[in-house]
Amino acid sequence: MAYKLKKIGVLTSGGDAPGMNAAVRAVVRSAVYNNIECFGIYKGYEGLIIDDLVKLNARGVNNIVNKGGTILKSARCVEFRSKEGRTKAKATLDKYEIDSLVVIGGNGSLTGAMLLEEEHGIKTIGIPGTIDNDLVGTRCTLGYDTALNTAVSAIDKIRDTASSHNRLFFIEVMGKGSGHIALNAGIGAGAEEVLIPEQGMGLDRLLDSLKKSEKSGKSSSIIVVSEGDKIGDNVFKFSSHIEKNLPHYEIRVSILGHIQRGGSPTCFDRVLASRMGVHAVDCLMSGQSNVMVGIIDDKMVTVPIDKAIKGGQKLHEDLVRVCDIISI
Ligand code: F6P
Repeated sequence: MAYKLKKIGVLTSGGDAPGMNAAVRAVVRSAVYNNIECFGIYKGYEGLIIDDLVKLNARGVNNIVNKGGTILKSARCVEFRSKEGRTKAKATLDKYEIDSLVVIGGNGSLTGAMLLEEEHGIKTIGIPGTIDNDLVGTRCTLGYDTALNTAVSAIDKIRDTASSHNRLFFIEVMGKGSGHIALNAGIGAGAEEVLIPEQGMGLDRLLDSLKKSEKSGKSSSIIVVSEGDKIGDNVFKFSSHIEKNLPHYEIRVSILGHIQRGGSPTCFDRVLASRMGVHAVDCLMSGQSNVMVGIIDDKMVTVPIDKAIKGGQKLHEDLVRVCDIISI
């Protein structure tokens, strides 16, 4: 039996990801299509705490399917991490008679959605919106494909100058503890070595591999490094180790940083966002809650949020093997 929804709220939270706007658009239009009122909440959970909402109709989300960033703005809201903060958020939801929420974001944002449901009974659906691809229960997260393409195109450009000068480049990509961007962008851009947290980022392994590359006749090299706890942590650790041990190398470091989060979403991400947005509203209408929507084998699926946020998404073992073989 269909669950009778009052009103749906939608918010984007945490690090923005390309495709968030397309997902907001799909949630709003799907709500309107089903005669359900929909509110956009600004700046993630902060908008719920300070009562910053807007009613959205189908025309309010015109011309955003192709835009990077998020028209709703995003934030990592510290106050919402406390029970008091979440109680304030619930009071705002009550004021507008919003009983269901679609949260588009990563790990921390979905944890917030889960707590809101558990403590206050708000029906919540998560849409995995993060470039990191670190959520379980979906083959990929929203924004990951765009970020990968951005990273590959930047690395391609760096390769031109690296080979012109016979230089060794260390290029740091994002991923917050997960090596998906590094491994896939590394393969896609033909990196000589990819250093990811899942494999233990061994300094000596890197040294050996560079010595081998030199023997095999390589004159320039691209090393893709997954970021550490802080931007630049890992990449400078590696570059100075190599500088000390192989001083004849001319080394440069490049941190791709936040360009990986910006830009127009790829068609893949736009379609994924549209499917996830529609599916999120379908789930709410069928009475589901506390689940994240995902895509597996090209089918829309749901996974309990507590499962989605635990453990990280495993790397494809075959990719690690392929990377080792083709980078000799
Ligand atoms: O989670 C997305 C992400 O871009 C990570 O890859 C990165 O570690 C982090 O956000 C950076 O966050 P901020 O924009 O708050 O510096």
